[in-house]
Amino acid sequence: MSVLTIVKYPNPILKKKLKPVNNFDFKLKSIVKDMFETMYTYNGIGLAANQVGIDLSIVVIDISKVEKKTIPLALINPKIIFYSKEKEIAEEGCLSFPGYYDEVQRSKHLEILYYDINGRQQKLQVEGLLSRVLQHEVDHINGINFIQRMSLKKQAKFYILYKLGKYKF
Ligand code: CO
Repeated sequence: MSVLTIVKYPNPILKKKLKPVNNFDFKLKSIVKDMFETMYTYNGIGLAANQVGIDLSIVVIDISKVEKKTIPLALINPKIIFYSKEKEIAEEGCLSFPGYYDEVQRSKHLEILYYDINGRQQKLQVEGLLSRVLQHEVDHINGINFIQRMSLKKQAKFYILYKLGKYKF
């Protein structure tokens, strides 16, 4: 296992729609292990493959530090098939934007389809923090970062501060 280097904003791979995984082999298992190790090393609760420079639709999540009863999840080719109209606002951060936190509005509930590490299709209905983290990570897989989900005012603030050199990721 190895800790991988985190790709930071504005690296172009963060804007890429990632390729689907077709082979559920030992190589995939090894990438997933490395992604978990990297996420834990940097104290993240979610990580998408482009954040470690890999062009494959893979997400790892572990929110058990916050919600004790949950287990770590590896999601291959995840697709959100339902977003609730009911929304919630909360602060988010991102390992590709270290030190930057701001509020993002997300759907409270969602339904997601994905493949597990063994290639079996799974469907989950989630809410709360897991719903938020899944939306954040599936956005990464589709080349969208959390700044793009903020209000226009917050986006403007980010881009101005970034241009002024306040953030060096
Ligand atoms: Co992120």
